[in-house]
Amino acid sequence: MKLDEFPRYPLTFGPSPVHHLKRLSEHLGGAQVWAKREDVNSGLAFGGNKTRKLEYIVPDVLASGADTLVSIGGYQSNHTRQVAAVAAHLGLHCRLVQERWVPWEDPVNDKVGNILLSRMMGADSRLDDAGFDIGIRDSWKQALQEVEESGGTPYPVPAGASMHHLGGLGFANWAFEVAEQEKALGVFFDTIVVCTVTGSTHAGMIAGFAALEELTGVRRRVLGIDASATLDQTRDQVSRIAHHTAQLIEVGRELREDEIQVLDGWAGDLYGLPVESTMEAMALGAQLEAMITDPVYEGKSLAGLIDLVKEGEIPRDSTVLYAHLGGQPAVNAYHALWSS
Ligand SMILES: Cc1ncc(COP(=O)(O)O)c(C=O)c1O
Repeated sequence: MKLDEFPRYPLTFGPSPVHHLKRLSEHLGGAQVWAKREDVNSGLAFGGNKTRKLEYIVPDVLASGADTLVSIGGYQSNHTRQVAAVAAHLGLHCRLVQERWVPWEDPVNDKVGNILLSRMMGADSRLDDAGFDIGIRDSWKQALQEVEESGGTPYPVPAGASMHHLGGLGFANWAFEVAEQEKALGVFFDTIVVCTVTGSTHAGMIAGFAALEELTGVRRRVLGIDASATLDQTRDQVSRIAHHTAQLIEVGRELREDEIQVLDGWAGDLYGLPVESTMEAMALGAQLEAMITDPVYEGKSLAGLIDLVKEGEIPRDSTVLYAHLGGQPAVNAYHALWSS
């Protein structure tokens, strides 16, 4: 398999756990819901989906001779926290641009949770007032230049590790991992639900499951739940990265339109701000399964899953896999949502 030819630097504990959410399934009264847990996939500062992407990027970092990882995200970016963790793990420097992606006016928003962990791990984390955008940013290019000017050798990791040519591989491999776990557990997931923002998690899955379909002839749905609130931009990015990754891993056909599904309806008006359905989903996950989700990403995709199951859009006889991508450290910055 072509995917096996890409070097992978181990950062995770191995396959992430898969388990049945029995109480949530019973409560919803429809499809059986399972979860695959990227929030507990690694010993590196709480892990998450970026750790898995970085496994395929680190060999390129090491080959480049760089001494500083440079990345970008919001104040409460899970991605930058995982880049800081990998830098610490590898003994590299880390320079982070943390922008004001979310108009969340809490005085600790730029001090606790993810940004606190990044600083603890030694990252040079600097704030920037720019708002949300999943594209390539000037502030990030400037940070790369500054590292060079001060005598360092930077390695650029774009937002979400998505606009990186290897960014989709981690979750292409996730698809094959799911297939192995299905065999061991005696279950088949006909539907996957995943949060999507910068796109390469969802896109990697699309490419991976397309490659798997070629081998097995089995089709399944990979439903991306938009949490960016900039739907067209995210959809374009998912499509672009899915096609690129499919080519990289040599899927021997064009992706079909129906393989790229980014669903709207749970993001609210703005990235990073929860809406009623987010709050309900976070409460259900926590109170029925002790499964903690965050208001920026996973609460929104869980809300999507809940509605799709309740409405029968994911039918009763389905077995659906919720990809939990991490993100819990951010809840500290959102403490006000739960204050009495
Ligand atoms: C917890 C969490 N869930 C979902 C996502 C979305 O993943 P992606 O940016 O690859 O679309 C991210 C990062 O953006 C994240 O940190």
